[in-house]
Order: sequence, then C-alpha cells, then structure tokens
Amino acid sequence: MNTKEFAKRRQHLIDLMGPNSIAVLPSVPVANRNRDVDYIYRSDSSFHYLSGFDEPDAVIVIIPGRPHGEYLLFCRERDLSKEIWDGYRAGQEGAVDTFGADDSYPISDLDDILSGLLEGKEKVYYTMGNVPTFDQRMVGWLNHLRNASRQGMHSPTEIIELEHSLNELRLYKSGAEIKAMRTAAKVSTDAHIRAMQFTQVGKWEYQVEAEIIHEFMKNDCRSPAYPSIVGGGENGCILHYIENNHKLKNNDLLLIDAGAEYDYYAADITRTFPVNGKFTACQKTLYNIVLEAQKAAIAEVKPSNHWNQPHEAAIRVITQGLLDIGLLKGNLEILIKEEKYREFYMHRTGHWLGMDVHDVGDYKVGGEWRVLEPGMVLTVEPGLYIRNPKHIDKKWHFIGIRIEDDVLVTKTGNEVLTEAAPKEVDEIEALMADNK
Ligand code: GLY
Ligand code: MN
Ligand code: MN
Repeated sequence: MNTKEFAKRRQHLIDLMGPNSIAVLPSVPVANRNRDVDYIYRSDSSFHYLSGFDEPDAVIVIIPGRPHGEYLLFCRERDLSKEIWDGYRAGQEGAVDTFGADDSYPISDLDDILSGLLEGKEKVYYTMGNVPTFDQRMVGWLNHLRNASRQGMHSPTEIIELEHSLNELRLYKSGAEIKAMRTAAKVSTDAHIRAMQFTQVGKWEYQVEAEIIHEFMKNDCRSPAYPSIVGGGENGCILHYIENNHKLKNNDLLLIDAGAEYDYYAADITRTFPVNGKFTACQKTLYNIVLEAQKAAIAEVKPSNHWNQPHEAAIRVITQGLLDIGLLKGNLEILIKEEKYREFYMHRTGHWLGMDVHDVGDYKVGGEWRVLEPGMVLTVEPGLYIRNPKHIDKKWHFIGIRIEDDVLVTKTGNEVLTEAAPKEVDEIEALMADNK
C-alpha cells in the first residue's frame, strides 16, 4: 500500500469529522506470550489503516483544518542502543519523511502536548475500551481540561466513537485493498490445493498445517490471518478446532479452514475433502447439500440484496437437503421457521472480510439488514456438522463439512475471489488421485 492510499483514507476521515474536532487513536500494546517472549507485533487494523505505521508505542492524532498540519504522529525516538536489541525505529524524521505525518513528536511528550491539542475542540473522536491503559490517560486529560475551564479553558463537549466512522470507511474496499485481497486469496487457494495434494491416511493434522504455512510464507504472507483449523473426522465437527494434533484416518473427511494475511488483508477459505481421496456415499450426499447451499447463497450476493439473503438461501437448501435424506422430518417452511436445521448447522453463513478476518462494519442499519453495495467483501460459508446423536443413523456420524469462499460485491453481482480452490466432488477426487 503506498503513502497516497493512507493519505486518502485520512482525508476521508477528515471529511467525516468536520471542523473543530480531533481524533486520537493509540496503537495497541505488544502482547506477551510467556515470560521474556512476546508475540510478533501486529498493529491494530484501524491504526494501520490510517497510518501504515507498525511500531508499538505510537498515537495518531488528526485535527481537521489545523494550520500547522492535520496529521500528527507520536512515536518512539530513535535510540541506537535499543535498536541494536529490538530493531529499527522510524523516529520523528521517519514518521514525517516515510509515513507522511505533517508533524511528529516523541511518544514521551504525549502528556505535555495532547491536552493542549484537545483544548478548545468541540468533538473528540476516540474509541473507549480498545486500549484500557490509554483510556485512563484520556480521561485524565479531559478531566484536567474540565477542571481548568474555570480559568477560561474550553473543554470538549462531545466524545464520539471513532471506530464507527472508521468502520464505515473500512467496509468499502478501494482498488488497492481489493488488489491486496486478491493476492491473499490467490496464496490461500494455492495453499488449499497443496494441502489436498499432500493429505494421506496416517499423516498428522499439523503436518498438513505445515504445508499450508509453507505456501503462505513462500509467497510473501508472513502469517495466517487466523489460526488454521485442520480437523480430521470428528474434529471437523468442532467449529473452532485449532489443536491440529490428531492422526488422519481412512474414510474420514478433513476440514481445513485457513487463510493467509497479505499486507494486512485476510483471506478466509474452508475446504472439506476425504483423507483417502475418495468420498464415501454418505459423505458425498451431505457434501453436495452444503455445496448446493453455498452456491445458492453466493447467487444472492449482489447489490440491492440485503445482508441476510445469502443466509436465507443457504438454510433453505440445507433444510430441504436434510428433509430429503430423512435427518429432518416435517414441513419445509415450518422447519425453517423453527430453525430445526440449527442442530446440524449452528452458525451464520458469513461475515465481512478485510483487514480483520471478522471484519468491521454494521450488519444492520436502522434496525434493517444492510443492503449490499459494490466494494464490500464477505464470506459465504455454510456447513453441516453431524456428531453422534442417538436419534441419527450411525452412517452419518462424525461428518463435519464446511465450504467457505470470499466474495466481492461488484456492480453487476459478485466475484468469488477464492474460486481457484476446487470444491466439486470430481475436481477434488481428480486432484487427489495421485497422492502417495
Ligand atoms: N475462519 C474463521 C471463520 O471462518 O469465520
Ligand atoms: Mn469465515
Ligand atoms: Mn474460515
């Protein structure tokens, strides 16, 4: 993403904020893994969205119309002795020259400078709760201003949720964002193909995961967008299974939910396929119900349809399918109304996708389902998860299936960004035929 893209985003925010306002967005702290070991730092998505700046201990301040510059970035000072241990810092010069800040100050000066910047503003855009230690400082500065108002200082009258404006911006993907998402999708579909070609009876789930991560990293994606789910047999029925530590068994299915993160953008793909390369009759029957539901849901992704239409299409096909094979009994409309499918399909059909795998953006507006518009990206991911309930014939037990694609809403309908990952039964079987 180039600096112009970040400048454009800040400008959009400035346009939304209006005069006499200020936005304050702190970076998230480094997360500790254990004792002296920290997790690799990954900026909060909104912080990166506005700045492209990925060091911890930084604060973005945006002040529309400020004569000396609208964009201030507080960050760590250069410090050779610290940089020898922990790596390069941009410092104040880098913040301006490389990251396009109008001005930059050391983070250690924040207390001295920020309350002065807040003074006299009517509206403060800030999100409470994301960085609790910063919330306390913010409350301190605002209280200070309120107490000082007796000396004629003007304290802000409105605190407005910054995330709400940012989330709306992030929901509509720009050309540059869609390009990054295409790359994440391409790398991820290649990884799913690689996993299918690698899988065999007797391999371990984490060995398949290793193939996926290898493909991600080899293709410039340092990290998965979320922990990969690689679940054989009954593990495929655990929605958030990430242990990935079982041996793959003959005649089981393998459910893989894995997506790469490329330049801060996520892919989110699920494919389900037979460990030995050939679906059993029961697996194929259930699989084709999910596939048909997924296709019906994708067909509903188009402008002017609302958010819930793909889900409604999916549950109709799934309920009909379960009726056809005798796992549900009764009247289709009543079963849908009473949500009887939920015993076997207990999650929703998708979510927004972007910098976060469950991306930001409201699903309802004014109490109504949101209407889909070009530039939005969502997942479509119906599934069926039959554990071992007594009232269900054993032949269906422990079959877990999900099929998930990433779908861009276009002017005329949609584009499936992840369609290169095979999902037809015969395609999958052909791809796996030579596995040895
Ligand atoms: N991988 C998380 C999800 O599918 O929602
Ligand atoms: Mn998903
Ligand atoms: Mn997923």
